[in-house]
Amino acid sequence: MNQPLPAGVCGVRILGTGSMVPERRLTNDDFSRMLDTSDEWITQRTGIKERRVLDLRTQGCSTLAQGALERAIENAGIKAEDLDLVIVATVTMEMTCPSVACRIAGAVGAKNAAAFDLVAACSGFVYALNMAETMVRVGRARTVAVIGSEAMSSILDYTDRTVSILFGDAAGCAIIQADADPTKGCIYQHMGADGIGGHALYIPKRETDVPADDADNPIRLGYLRMNGKEVFRFAVTKFKEVMEDAFAKTGLTPNDVSQVICHQSNVRIIDAAREKLGIDPAKIYVNIDRYGNSSAGSVPLCLDELWRAGKITKGKPFMMVAFGGGLTWASSVWST
Ligand code: ACO
Repeated sequence: MNQPLPAGVCGVRILGTGSMVPERRLTNDDFSRMLDTSDEWITQRTGIKERRVLDLRTQGCSTLAQGALERAIENAGIKAEDLDLVIVATVTMEMTCPSVACRIAGAVGAKNAAAFDLVAACSGFVYALNMAETMVRVGRARTVAVIGSEAMSSILDYTDRTVSILFGDAAGCAIIQADADPTKGCIYQHMGADGIGGHALYIPKRETDVPADDADNPIRLGYLRMNGKEVFRFAVTKFKEVMEDAFAKTGLTPNDVSQVICHQSNVRIIDAAREKLGIDPAKIYVNIDRYGNSSAGSVPLCLDELWRAGKITKGKPFMMVAFGGGLTWASSVWST
C-alpha cells in the first residue's frame, strides 16, 4: 500500500468476484444417521437441505479463501500484483499468526498488498467491505480484495444437534477498485455491535470464558455455542431494523434495488424480515438450502452467484445486510 492521495474522493466499483466451497456434501439425511434429527425437522426449522464440509486433515479456512481470491482475480481481469490490500473476514482462521490474509496474499503473489484478518463473525464480510470501500474512496488504497471465508466445521461439535446442523464451509471474494465516477460505490453503510449480548453466540476457549448460566452446556470448549431462541429473536428484529434504516437513509424503496443480499442464517429469519418490509421474494437471494450458514462466507458467496448470473445490474443499487456473533450487524448499499 503506497498510494498518493488524490485531490478529492473518488468512486468505487466491484471489478470481479469469486467463491469456493468444498466438494464434500453433508446432507440432512447424513445428519439423521449421526444424530437424533430428521430432514423434515431441519428443513422446516431452517430451510437447509445440505451444506459443504472441508477435509480438515489437509484443508482449512485458507484453502477456501485462496480459491475464492484466485477466482475473483481471474474474474476481475487483474494481476495479483495489482492488489494493494487483502482483507479476510473470518472466525475460523487456522492460526491467528500469520493471518489467513497474509498467507493467501503470499500464495497468490500479491506482493504489493498489505494484509490482515478481521473478526466480526457473520457480519465480517460486510464490515470488511465497508472498511475497504472507505479506504479506496479517500485514496488510501486503489485495488482491494475483500474475502469472507469460514471453516465452520472446525468449530462445530458434531455430537450436538442444536448447532451443528446449521453451518457449512464456504468462501467468497469481491475485488473493488477506484473509479473516476464518484457516484459509484457504497452510498450508505452502517455497522453496529452489542458486546453485552455476546454470549448468545460464542466460542469459549477456557472454562472462565463460560458464564455461570451456560455452565451446563454440553458443547465442548473450543466449539461454537448458541442460544438459538435468543439469536432468532435478535436476528429477526435486527434484520428489519437494519434494512429499514438503509432504505430510510438512502431514500430508496425495495422497488429501487436489484437485490437485497442477506446473510444466510435461517430461511425463516430472512422470510420474516422480507415480509415485514414487503420486499419481492425475487429480490432476496437464498442459497441456504445448498450451503447452510457459512458465517462470513455467506454474503460474498451469494454476491458471487448473483454477479456471475448477471443479477447485479448496472445502474440499479443493491444492498447487503448481515448480523452475527459479537453481537454485530452491518449494512452496505451500493450504487453500480
Ligand atoms: N433435530 C431435531 N430436534 C431438534 C434439533 C434437531 N437438529 N435441534 C433441536 N431440536 C429439538 C429441541 O431439543 C427441542 O426439543 P424439546 O421441545 O423436546 O425440548 C425442539 O427441537 C425445539 O427446539 P427449539 O430450540 O425450540 O427449536 P426452534 O424452533 O427455536 O429452532 C433453531 C431451533 C433452528 C436453532 C432456531 O432457534 C434458530 O434458527 N435460531 C437462530 C439460530 C441461527 O440462525 N443461528 C445462526 C445465526 S448466527 C449467525 O449467523 C451469526
